[in-house]
Amino acid sequence: MSQPSVPLERSLPREYYLDPALFARERERIFRREWFCAARGAEFTQPGEWLLRRVADESVFVTRDRDGALQAFLNLCRHRGAQLLPQAGDAAQLERKGHGRFPAAIRCPYHNWTYELDGALRMAPHLDDCLADVRGSLGLHRVAAAEWGGFVFLKLDCAGGDAAADLAHQLGPVPERVRRYPLAQLGLAHRIVYEVRANWKVIVENYNECYHCGPVHPGLCELVPAFRQAGGAGLDWDRGIPHRAGADTFTTSGTSSRASFPALNADEQVLHKGELIYPNLMISLAREHVAAFRLWPEECDRTTVVCDFLFHPDEMCRSDFDPTDAVDFWDGVNREDWAICESVQRGMGSRAFVHGWYAPMEDLSLDIRRYVRERLDAAD
Ligand code: FES
Ligand SMILES: [Fe+2]
Repeated sequence: MSQPSVPLERSLPREYYLDPALFARERERIFRREWFCAARGAEFTQPGEWLLRRVADESVFVTRDRDGALQAFLNLCRHRGAQLLPQAGDAAQLERKGHGRFPAAIRCPYHNWTYELDGALRMAPHLDDCLADVRGSLGLHRVAAAEWGGFVFLKLDCAGGDAAADLAHQLGPVPERVRRYPLAQLGLAHRIVYEVRANWKVIVENYNECYHCGPVHPGLCELVPAFRQAGGAGLDWDRGIPHRAGADTFTTSGTSSRASFPALNADEQVLHKGELIYPNLMISLAREHVAAFRLWPEECDRTTVVCDFLFHPDEMCRSDFDPTDAVDFWDGVNREDWAICESVQRGMGSRAFVHGWYAPMEDLSLDIRRYVRERLDAAD
């Protein structure tokens, strides 16, 4: 079927959204090689407390050692390969949390090989004679871990070196752009986990543009009329997006009695910002809360989206603290987004779909086209 010649940019071809082989290549080239956001650091704060997740065909867990430092490993015993932490059935796709034994250590349930929280082999039953010889080479397989803004990032294929500097390189200009938001301090007030029957890139592309906001989000456009104007063209995301008169945050009323984050500039106290951190973190920043979306590509056409609602601890400890106004607003917008993303995924299944087109106000998605192609097409 021939494609029309039109003055618009082409989106990625259909196979990038539908072909399991290309999805497997993304796992190798993107989700094994890049830092991905795995959690909020405040979810596990005690030595030996762990968080387990399946990503890129690996079971991975992250914990803290006795100094509170992040440590992450493959969920795999060096003896005969048993999984150290339990992962079974449907839970294989979900985040699981637990706590190690006291004194804090990681013990394999098969033959009781026991590892320190830094991954070193501490004890192997009845092997005292050779333990000293194997200890140095049979520590847990390490996964790189680093934290920014209270978000924990992991990297499967790590070559060692300075993890924090490596993560900073990947984050690029984002930390500077959001430096007045106290991300590292924010607490998790509420979480919604969505199962979306769409390829993860459909969700990222949808986040990247406001061309759809007029038709898809009538309520959001009441709050931010600029989303309806010119298909979202000309919005200044670096400065922030204006609300309607009398509104200053993303809640059902457009207002909140919660205090603004203390260090925001005058614009940030009344405007809304958004950031996309490839490959799997999207953060939307209001003056007094942040909605953080973590994407977990599960299959070619299925993505888990973990949506965290983050607030300042001073507000969260107030007796009348109630995040419902923000949660309900976002939940409505999110469901509109996921429904249209699932519609896109179903539509792309038609053989008539070869690729889509990006209108000029969708130019940010050119970035994902470049991001994915650079990584999938690279020779090595
Ligand atoms: S497989 Fe872990 S101790 Fe044997
Ligand atoms: Fe949307």
